[in-house]
Amino acid sequence: MDNLLFSFSFLCTLSVTFGLNNSYDLSNFSRSSFPPGFVFGAASSAYQYEGGVFEGGKGASIWDTFTHKFPAKVSDGSNGDVADDFYHLYKDDVKLMKTIGLDAFRMSISWSRILPNGKLSGGVNKEGIAFYNNLINELLANGITPFVTLFHWDLPQALEDEYRGFLSPLIINYFKDFVDICFKEFGDRVKNWITLNEPFSFANGGYDGGVVGNLAPWRCSAWANCQHGNSATEPYVVAHHLLLCHAQAAKLYKQTYQPIQKGQIGVTLVTHWIVPYSSSIFDVKAAQRALDFMYGWFIHPLVYGEYPTIMREILGHRLPEFTEVQAAALKESLDFLGLNYYTGNYAAHVPSSNGANVSSSTDNMAHLSTDMNGVPIGDPTGVSSFYVYPKGLRDLLIYTKERYNNPTIYITENGMGDLSSGDFKRDTEDSQRIDFYNRHLRVVREGIEYGVNVKGYFAWAFLDNFEWNSGYTLRFGLVHVDYKNGLKRTLKSSALWFKNCLQNTKLQQSLYFKLLSKKVLQARFRKNIFDM
Ligand SMILES: *[C@@H]1O[C@H](CO)[C@@H](O)[C@H](O)[C@H]1NC(C)=O
Ligand SMILES: *[C@@H]1O[C@H](CO)[C@@H](O)[C@H](O)[C@H]1NC(C)=O
Ligand SMILES: *[C@@H]1O[C@H](CO)[C@@H](O)[C@H](O)[C@H]1NC(C)=O
Repeated sequence: MDNLLFSFSFLCTLSVTFGLNNSYDLSNFSRSSFPPGFVFGAASSAYQYEGGVFEGGKGASIWDTFTHKFPAKVSDGSNGDVADDFYHLYKDDVKLMKTIGLDAFRMSISWSRILPNGKLSGGVNKEGIAFYNNLINELLANGITPFVTLFHWDLPQALEDEYRGFLSPLIINYFKDFVDICFKEFGDRVKNWITLNEPFSFANGGYDGGVVGNLAPWRCSAWANCQHGNSATEPYVVAHHLLLCHAQAAKLYKQTYQPIQKGQIGVTLVTHWIVPYSSSIFDVKAAQRALDFMYGWFIHPLVYGEYPTIMREILGHRLPEFTEVQAAALKESLDFLGLNYYTGNYAAHVPSSNGANVSSSTDNMAHLSTDMNGVPIGDPTGVSSFYVYPKGLRDLLIYTKERYNNPTIYITENGMGDLSSGDFKRDTEDSQRIDFYNRHLRVVREGIEYGVNVKGYFAWAFLDNFEWNSGYTLRFGLVHVDYKNGLKRTLKSSALWFKNCLQNTKLQQSLYFKLLSKKVLQARFRKNIFDM
C-alpha cells in the first residue's frame, strides 16, 4: 500500500515535470510511430449498432425492455430498434472500414440473437448464426480482423425474468452455454475474444446508477428512485457473477478450443484515471480508494484472485468471496486485458460514508470531481462529465504494468463525444476529435516507450450510434450517421485524418520522442516508486 501511495504523489508531480498541458505536438502519427503489428481498429456493440431487434428470430434483451418500458430514462426517449441498421448495412460499413485503413473491428454478439430465450432449451437461432457468419466473413474478406465481445450488456430478457439475470449464480452456466456456441460456430475465424465489456458500468449502471446513470435492467435502492433493487448489495453480487462468468468462459475456451483454434481471450474493463485533489495524504488515499473501487474491483481478482484489501475492509459481508478454485480460475483467465479509457477525475477525501443511503457509488468514501478550484482537468467535450485528459491514459498504462504483472493490453475503447448539433458541417468537421486522438495516441506511444505491452488501439466509435441512456444525443463516431436522411454515412474529418495517418508508413519522428527518452522515464519511475 505504501508503495502505491507514493505512486500517486509521483504521478501527480509527473504532470509538473513533463507538463505537456495544452500545447501538444499536433503533428500526425503514422503507423511507423508504433511497433510492427500494432492493431488499429474501431469499436461497436450489437445493441448500439445493429437495429433489427425484432427481426431474424432475435429474442428480446433487457435493453429492448428497458428502452420500451422506460423511454424517459433515455435522454431523447429513443431506443436501439433501428440504431445504425448495421444488421442490414454491414457490407457497406465494412467497405468504409477498409477505406479508412482499419486493421480490426471490435463488435459484439447479441446473446438473444443466437439464443432467443437465453438458453439452449429455447433453441439456437440459425438466422442469428448466419448473420454473424456473414459479418465475420465480410470483415475477413476485406482484411479486417474481428475482435468479438461476448457480453456487451444486452442480456436476454428471458433470463432476467426467470432468474434475475446476473443476480443469480445460475447465470454462469447459461453464459457458458452461450459462449460455447460462439466458440464452436465462429472460432475457426475469430481469434480475439473479449468475454465482457465494462463489468463496472453494467454493475453500477444497472444496479445502482450513481456513477454512470441508470442502465438496464434499472435496479437500485428505493431512495435512489428505482422500483426494485438494493444499491448497497446488488452491484457487488452482479460484479461477482460477471467475474465468474468471465472465468468460466475463459476456462472453456482455453481447455477446449484454444489448442485447436489458436486464438486469445481476455476481458474489457473501464476506468477513469484518478488524481488526488490535493497533496494531503487523505486525498492521496482517497484517489487510491476510488481507483480500487472502479478498476481494482475487477483487475485485482483477475490478477491476484481476490478483491482489493480496501474493498474487503470497507464492505465486509456485502462483498462476496471467491473460493480457492474460483480464485485460481480467475488468475489463469487472461491472455490479454482490454482497457476502455475516456477521462480523468479528481478525488477528495470523504470522512465517512452516508449511513442512511448506502451505495456502491459512495462506498469509496471519495468525492470525485472534474475540476480543481474551478479549473477543469482538461478541455470540455460534448459529454458533460468527460474532459480530455490524455495523461491519465499513460498513467493508467504504467500503473497497470507495474501493479498488475505487465499484462498484454489492447485499448479497446478511447474516444470523445460531441453533442449532436443537427448541423451537418459542425457534426462532420470534428477537429476536436482529431486533437483528442492525436494526444491520446501520443501517450499510448509513451506507454510503449516505457515498456507497457500495448498491442492495439480501438477508437470508440466507428459510427455514431445509440449511446445507451444518452440515446442519439451524443456522436462518438469517426463516421457520421444522418438519422434524418436514411442513416447515410459520411466520413468525418477525423476518419480522413485516421486514413491519412494509417496510410503513412514513412518514419515520422515526433517531437515527443525527443522529449521523453525511454531511459529517463523508466529511471524516474523505478527510482521513485514501484519497487515491488
Ligand atoms: C502551458 O501552455 C501555455 C500556453 O498555452 C504556456 O504558456 C505554458 O508555459 C505551458 N505550461 C507548461 C508547463 O508547458
Ligand atoms: C495532419 O493531417 C491532416 C489531415 O490529413 C493534414 O491536413 C495536416 O497537414 C497534417 N499535419 C501534419 C503536421 O502533418
Ligand atoms: C437519502 O436519499 C433521499 C432521496 O434522495 C434523500 O431525501 C435523503 O436526504 C437521503 N438521506 C441522507 C441521510 O442523505
